[in-house]
Amino acid sequence: MSNILITGATGNIGMEVIRFLHKIDTSNRIIAGVRNIEKAKNVFKDYPKLDYVHFDFEDFETFDNALTDIDRIFLLRPPHISDIDKYFKPLISKIKKHNISEVVFLSVQGAETSKVIPHNKIERLINENRLNYIFLRPSYFMQNLTTTLINDIKTKREIILPSGQAQFNWIDIENIGEAGAILLDKFGDYKNQSFEITGLENESFAGVTSLINKAIENPIRFRNVNPLRFFRIKKRERMVTGMIIVMMLLHFLPRFQKAPRISNFYERLTGKKPTDLKTFIEREKKQFEKQ
Ligand SMILES: NC(=O)c1ccc[n+]([C@@H]2O[C@H](COP(=O)([O-])OP(=O)(O)OC[C@H]3O[C@@H](n4cnc5c(N)ncnc54)[C@H](OP(=O)(O)O)[C@@H]3O)[C@@H](O)[C@H]2O)c1
Repeated sequence: MSNILITGATGNIGMEVIRFLHKIDTSNRIIAGVRNIEKAKNVFKDYPKLDYVHFDFEDFETFDNALTDIDRIFLLRPPHISDIDKYFKPLISKIKKHNISEVVFLSVQGAETSKVIPHNKIERLINENRLNYIFLRPSYFMQNLTTTLINDIKTKREIILPSGQAQFNWIDIENIGEAGAILLDKFGDYKNQSFEITGLENESFAGVTSLINKAIENPIRFRNVNPLRFFRIKKRERMVTGMIIVMMLLHFLPRFQKAPRISNFYERLTGKKPTDLKTFIEREKKQFEKQ
């Protein structure tokens, strides 16, 4: 039995990883590393076997206690943390000091090609520290539609982005969580490899908008804007500047890149096809309807 620490446990992917570890009835001990244990206990009240430890990426004092007796870790980068030298360098040194040599890191598709993105820096730190690793590199989350973009959809009936006709590959976080759970549970079978996890469809925002409109009563529209205009609109809405910049890069740069690669890793791992957009939209369509 291994002790597995899950960081980002209450987020999109962490929550799915825990749900699937529970579903496969893992024999490993699962510990959620969270900032607020009481809040997390409420979130995970259906998982009585789950343990908790206080862990804060931004509070180095929490590292030693959280890493004690841990054998394996599910590591992610919370979206607002971009200073990797400041936060991840000390964390990964501590992971090494605690003789934890098994890390599943939630990276991003294409992380290997850009030295400037934070995920690339974290992957390099893991390698430099000679930890055994699995890099899970997902494409664009379908759930961005029901999280970061939902406010504009609900209040303005539009998706507003500087993405033009750029193609995105759309993956369901449930598929990522399931893959993450299997990789954590059977780490030895997959160690020291990187896996892209994608859906089967590349689609632009105009395309996805029209798929949504086939499923709902009151249509939404896709409004393409240039990056400067996007910045001004989001600034006016008081979005944090760092977040606006991340959103701009994430949605503007793909205009100049090739369409994303499509991987069959999820199917090889689980024997199932990943969720398609139509199924996802049908499942979530209540969220897209006019309130
Ligand atoms: N969105 C995409 O399309 C996409 C695609 C590929 C890869 N990714 C990558 O996926 C990662 C994000 O995963 P996600 O969507 O699951 O994240 P998320 O839903 O934003 O959740 C972030 C998690 O991190 C925790 N957290 C935040 N700050 C913390 C701190 N200081 N100490 C401890 N925990 C902290 C949060 O806990 P609290 O409950 O305490 O807030 C939450 O559990 C990012 O690295 C992103 O680049 C995203």
